[in-house]
Amino acid sequence: MTKTTPPSIIALDGPAASGKSTLGHKLAETLGFLFFDTGIMYRAVTYVALHRDMDLRDESAITHLAQSVQIDICPPSVKDGRACDVVIGEKDVTWEMRGGDVDANVSVVSAYAGVRQALSEQQRRIGLRGKVVMVGRDIGTVVLPDADLKIYLDASAEERAKRRYDEIIARGEQSNYDEILKKMIERDRLDSTRAVAPLRPADDAIIIDSDKLDAGQVFEQVMKLCR
Ligand code: DC
Repeated sequence: MTKTTPPSIIALDGPAASGKSTLGHKLAETLGFLFFDTGIMYRAVTYVALHRDMDLRDESAITHLAQSVQIDICPPSVKDGRACDVVIGEKDVTWEMRGGDVDANVSVVSAYAGVRQALSEQQRRIGLRGKVVMVGRDIGTVVLPDADLKIYLDASAEERAKRRYDEIIARGEQSNYDEILKKMIERDRLDSTRAVAPLRPADDAIIIDSDKLDAGQVFEQVMKLCR
């Protein structure tokens, strides 16, 4: 693919809670691009499977679900911190998809080759239209390997768990830092050791460690790369 200036396809990968969504959203807004968080698709399939009481170990049934489920992603209809509405059938599932049940099971669902193939195809089709910031785990390595700019946003598990904990407390809910950290380390392990499209930086990705940077500093660094 011919490289354009500024970049038209931006791939943004990294582990859970590394700040990808915050950065991706701001980048997309500033550049007038589409913001596409691909984790939503894996979460939506997991949510529907749990909701229908399906056996998550049944790879063929879960793959069939991923090939057939209709997920609508629309501009936000409510101002409650959401980046978009996620609608399945007629139901708004935006926050339910972020729940602990989905968190605990999404890595199993996203490890299935058939699920990844079905969802990656849709992601690629949308990404190749350009003017997009696509966020995920395998965007730079598998979904859009010819992306104009690839960023891998990293941070230590401790820092990411602290950010997740602070977010939950800020919403007025109860939380436990040690539990969040434990689950985060386990999800990182599953995401980075799976056989298909594991979490890892692309060879030509620019790696940014956000442990000692705030969201504004990370954004400025990436905007410099875009210019
Ligand atoms: O970014 P997130 O936490 O919403 O992603 C949820 C899960 O989906 C994550 O544990 C791994 C999986 N995922 C993936 O395998 N590939 C992607 N491109 C995006 C997410």
